[in-house]
Amino acid sequence: MMTSDNRTKRVAILGGSGFTGAELYRLLNKHPFLKVDFVSSESKAGVPVEKYFTAFTHTKKVSALTFKKIADLDGHYDLIFSCLPKGALPRMIEQVAEHTDYIFNVSGDYRFSDPVLLQKHYPDTLNQPIQVASKYYIPEFSEIDSKVKVVNLPGCMAVATIYSLYPLLANELIENRVVTDAKTGSSGGGKSSSEHHAERANNFRPHSIHGHRHRPEIEFAFEDYFNSSLELQFTVHSLDLPRGILVTSYSVLKEGVSEVDVKKAFYGSYAQKPFIHYFNSKNGYPMIKTVAGTNYAEVGVYVDGSSCVSIASIDNLIKGAAGQAIQAANLYLGFPEETGLQAELGGVWP
Ligand SMILES: NC(=O)c1ccc[n+]([C@@H]2O[C@H](COP(=O)([O-])OP(=O)(O)OC[C@H]3O[C@@H](n4cnc5c(N)ncnc54)[C@H](OP(=O)(O)O)[C@@H]3O)[C@@H](O)[C@H]2O)c1
Repeated sequence: MMTSDNRTKRVAILGGSGFTGAELYRLLNKHPFLKVDFVSSESKAGVPVEKYFTAFTHTKKVSALTFKKIADLDGHYDLIFSCLPKGALPRMIEQVAEHTDYIFNVSGDYRFSDPVLLQKHYPDTLNQPIQVASKYYIPEFSEIDSKVKVVNLPGCMAVATIYSLYPLLANELIENRVVTDAKTGSSGGGKSSSEHHAERANNFRPHSIHGHRHRPEIEFAFEDYFNSSLELQFTVHSLDLPRGILVTSYSVLKEGVSEVDVKKAFYGSYAQKPFIHYFNSKNGYPMIKTVAGTNYAEVGVYVDGSSCVSIASIDNLIKGAAGQAIQAANLYLGFPEETGLQAELGGVWP
């Protein structure tokens, strides 16, 4: 719960009435140092924030904060979380940046820079070049650069895929051709998804075969980290679940690489990471139920000869967006990484 000491930071959330914005608000309510003073919604301006959010249904005394339009941002915020649909932040980046030290951005607008791919996936980024420093940042792997103003968090399926492959690529254990299939819940499409419940429920189907924008993001991330190219075949499947992602990556071990090398690489990469739990053939496998409602990722690796299957699961709205953004903010501001992110539903079974 909020305490007021000199570590308290003033926070704004843009896109606060959406799925990720609502999760940010709910989680920040329990953060001891990040105090939300502004929540934007263009369509709900004037509506009391906590009366709108389902998470506060049982709260007897709700806060007086009301949604405001982004044009009403006033004064200085220590940090702004941006949870806007792709294309929205580039159209107002200069105006928003004036009000803050850091923008933690969960949209994909600034995750990569290739102009051809931007034209295809994020044309507004190309049309509105950014004038402030911006960086792609994965809390587990990236360096903090305090000169950066816009901290861009990875996409939800992208980060799960990166967790499944990072130890293999960092330790040069696999051939560079990898197949990943990602399964994702319906909240991944945001609250305005055009997909009807009747189309999604009781179904399991692929979409974006070859063409999903998280594929170039993953390839760029690994190129950036290791200066090595990854040839990724990436397909997404729609799950009949509100939240959760599970990705399965299929790769081939380089000659001479053993199962022990692989296990050591995963253990070495993740043993000290507070939000990543590592499994192998001896102790289980990742799943969605145990990460839903938490900022945890589960990662597992399974080897048979030269064939390697690595799996990761996360909650798309928390580890894939809101929780990950808070984790990044904690690291940037010098708070312990886990502040405000203690497990909520962790351990609930079945
Ligand atoms: N959903 C996920 O699992 C997930 C995971 C990782 C990253 N992301 C990314 O996070 C961002 C938000 O996703 P979401 O699922 O929370 O979307 P969402 O549920 O559709 O919410 C979008 C929010 O932005 C506001 N908004 C829409 N258009 C706007 C505009 N032109 N100007 C200002 N505000 C606008 C909406 O409310 P008003 O219309 O009332 O203003 C709403 O508050 C997206 O870029 C998405 O790709 C999502």
